[in-house]
Parts: sequence; structure tokens; C-alpha cells
Amino acid sequence: MDISLLKEICRAECEAISNLPSSSKGKIVKRGASGDITKMIDKVAEEAAVRCLQELGFEGSLLSEELGLVKIGGENYPLVVLDPIDGTTNAIRGINLYSISVALSDGPRLSDIVSAAVMELPSKRLFSAEKGAGAFLDGTRINTNGHVALSNALVGVDFNVRGNRGRVYEVLPVLMAVKHIRNLGSAALGLCYTASGSLDFYLDNRSLLRVTDIASAYLILKEAGAQVLALDGSELDCPLDLTARIELIAGEEKICREVLSMIGSRNNRLNKL
Ligand code: IPD
Ligand code: CA
Repeated sequence: MDISLLKEICRAECEAISNLPSSSKGKIVKRGASGDITKMIDKVAEEAAVRCLQELGFEGSLLSEELGLVKIGGENYPLVVLDPIDGTTNAIRGINLYSISVALSDGPRLSDIVSAAVMELPSKRLFSAEKGAGAFLDGTRINTNGHVALSNALVGVDFNVRGNRGRVYEVLPVLMAVKHIRNLGSAALGLCYTASGSLDFYLDNRSLLRVTDIASAYLILKEAGAQVLALDGSELDCPLDLTARIELIAGEEKICREVLSMIGSRNNRLNKL
């Protein structure tokens, strides 16, 4: 039931956005609950998800990037955690790499998520996971890579620092040590590619991510055997609300810890600038 509900939401969103003319996808509609500007594609996708939950008689709540927290016919839980479109800028600029990220939680924290789906668009490949049952890409089991030397690693990093150039300086030692670097424009997909072994690890030190960006990928990573760490080296966990701003590293533990030792603690990092 869990995964089928999440797949239904993806299906409903896909159908809704496929009817949207390219010229209107990027139209500014409002400022969403997360504080970001909502574009037409975000609104249309989110409305389709809400309609889908209502039509299926879902009883619980929805935490969504544009709407915030709303009850849909019932209790606080289960809670659907949704980013209707992750990678909106790619979607409206015609870069064919964005996603739908939707998870189901039975409690108030990231670690309470029990099932998750990230649909890569426009390909419609589906990453999915259920707690304790592994992670999958289109039904085939996926695992994060084992240890690779940093000098051989393909890393996903987010340089979208919105003016905070200090955050770029912090990761320079890592960028100079690895073999290949990607900045994809959809955090959910970068994290899922780490779960499936396409990327060796994923690093975001910007303190800009919201829980809706990473909730689904978090479970997919864990079920694929990856570590998901905050930049102080602790296991990442946070409340499922839109106030938290998240930094993380995900991948095989040894390489994650090696990278963390290179970028140091936040205080050390700031003192070096
Ligand atoms: C964005 C993407 C992007 C990241 C931004 C996120 P959105 O999500 O994940 O890769 O750089 O910080 O906000 O806004 O398209 O849902
Ligand atoms: Ca979004």
C-alpha cells in the first residue's frame, strides 16, 4: 500500500505536468511555505498530488514544499513528505533532469520515514525503498558503492551557493582530490545516484536544503547501505518540518569520513576564510 500510494502520486503529477505548455512552466505564482518562489510547474504538480491523495481517501497529513503542513482527512500520521518538483530550474530551462520526491512517515523525524519514492523525470525511472526491505531502481535492487580511493571518485556536489562564496572555498580541497565532479540541479536525484552507485558520494555544505528535498532519498540511501551524515560526523536526523536547513554527506562511510576530515568543523572552516 505504501509504495503504491507513492507511485500513484508520481503518476498523477506526471500526467498534470505533461499538459502544461513549456512557456508557462516557469511563471511565478506565489511564495511557497518553504520561503522559495513557487513556479507554475511546482503548483500544478502539487495540486495533482493533493487531488490524488483526496481521491484515494488518504487519511493523514501532507508536508509539501509549497503548501507547508496540511491535514488531509484525518490524523497527523501517516505523513506524506513531498517535494512536488525537485530541480524546478532544470525543468523550466529545458534541462532534462528533475524529479518528484515523495515519502511516507509514521513519526515526526527523518528517521521515522517508512517508504520512499523518487521519480527521475522526464525518464520516469523510479527509485524506491521500504524500511528494512532494501532500495530499488525500477524494481532492481541497488547498493551504494564500496570504498573507492578519493583520487578515483566521482562526486556529486552542490555549488549553488546563492552568493555565499565561503561555502565553495570550504570544499575546494575535496574538489581538488577527486577524479570527477557533478552538480546536477536536483538534490534528490544526486542522492539517489549515490544510492545506486552512479556517484561515489554526495556532498552539500550550503545549509540550504530542506527536509522535503532529501526525505525520500534519505531512506533510499539507508536501504542501499549508504551512510547519511551531518557535517559534524553524526548520523543525520532532523524534524520533518520546513524550518530545518540541512547540510550532509552521503555514501560509503570511510570515504565520507575522509572528506569530513578534509573540510573540518564549521568553526575551523570559518576561521580559515
Ligand atoms: C533545489 C534542487 C537543487 C538545489 C536547491 C534545491 P527545488 O530544489 O534540489 O539541486 O541546489 O537548493 O532547492 O527548489 O528545485 O525543489
Ligand atoms: Ca521543489
